[in-house]
Amino acid sequence: MENIAELIKKAKKETGTLILAHTYQPPEIIELADITGDSFKLAQACLETDAKRVIMCGVRFMAESVKILSPEKEVILPAPEATCPMAEMISPERVRKYKEENPDSVVVAYINTTAALKAECDVCVTSSSALKIVEKIEAPEILFIPDKNLGTFVKNAFPEKNIVVWDGYCPIHDRVTAEDILEAKKAHPEALVAVHPECKKEVVDLCDMAGSTADIIKFALASEKDVIIGTERGVADYLTLKYPEKGFYHLAPEKLVCKDMKYVDTDTLLKAIRGEAGEVIEIDEALRIKAKKSIDEMLRLG
Ligand code: 13P
Ligand code: SF4
Repeated sequence: MENIAELIKKAKKETGTLILAHTYQPPEIIELADITGDSFKLAQACLETDAKRVIMCGVRFMAESVKILSPEKEVILPAPEATCPMAEMISPERVRKYKEENPDSVVVAYINTTAALKAECDVCVTSSSALKIVEKIEAPEILFIPDKNLGTFVKNAFPEKNIVVWDGYCPIHDRVTAEDILEAKKAHPEALVAVHPECKKEVVDLCDMAGSTADIIKFALASEKDVIIGTERGVADYLTLKYPEKGFYHLAPEKLVCKDMKYVDTDTLLKAIRGEAGEVIEIDEALRIKAKKSIDEMLRLG
C-alpha cells in the first residue's frame, strides 16, 4: 500500500497542483512542498510559475497575497480556519475613518494583513523591507499598522519622522521575554541569537540580528557560530532537520508555537489536492486591484 507522501506526490502530479509552504509549517508538509519560504517570497515565487492550481499551506492572509499577485490561478487554503490574529487587529473601516480624520497621513501596512486592509493602505512592507521603505516616505505623518513591535522598531530608527504605531501584535512573538533570551544565552553561551522583529523591543535589543523568517534562515546558514532561532518553532525544526550537522537551537519552544500554522497535516493536504477539503480563495476584483497597488508601491520603493 502506498504511504501518504506517495499519494500526495501522485495526486499533485495528476492535478497539476503546486504546493507552497511557509517555513512555520510542520516538517512533513515542508518536505512535500514545491516552494518554501516567507510569506511574501512565496507569493512572488508563485507568480513566476505557470501552475494554474496552487495550495498555500499557511494562514489566510498568505493565500490572499498569492491570489492578489496571481488572480488567474486557483489558490486553495487547505485549512480554512487558519487565520493570523494580528492580520485583523485593525478593521478596514477603522483605517478609512483614520484617513478621513488625518488626510495627510500615509498608511503603511505590514504584509501580514488581510486583502481588505491592504486595499485601504498606501504601501505595504515586509519585516525585511520596512526600514528601507519608511525611510523614503516624506509625509507629515505615517500610520503603521497593525504590529506595534515592528512599528516601534521602525519608529525608533527614524526619530525625525512622525510615526503613529497601531496597537496590534503577534500573540506568539509578543510572548517572548528578555528573560527567555538571557536563559537561552546561558544555555548556549557561544551562540548568536536571531529573532523576528514581531518580538518586543527589549527582546530585539538583546539579539545579534532581527529579520524576517527568510532573513533569519539566511543568517543562520551563513553563521560560523551556532544560532538560537527566535521565531515560530517550525523554523528551528526545519533547520535542524535539514542541517543536522549545524548547531541550531530553539528559543522558548513552548511559547513560539503558532497553532494556526499547524492546522495542515498530510491528510488535509491530500484532501485539498483532491478537491475534498480547503477553500478556494476569492477576492473581489476591485478590492484586489486596490490591494495590489499597495504591494506594487512596496516593490517600487523597496
Ligand atoms: P514572514 O513574513 O517573516 O514570513 O512572517 C510571517 C509571519 O507570520 C511572522 O509571524
Ligand atoms: Fe500571525 Fe504570529 Fe502566527 Fe505569524 S506567528 S501567522 S504573525 S499569529
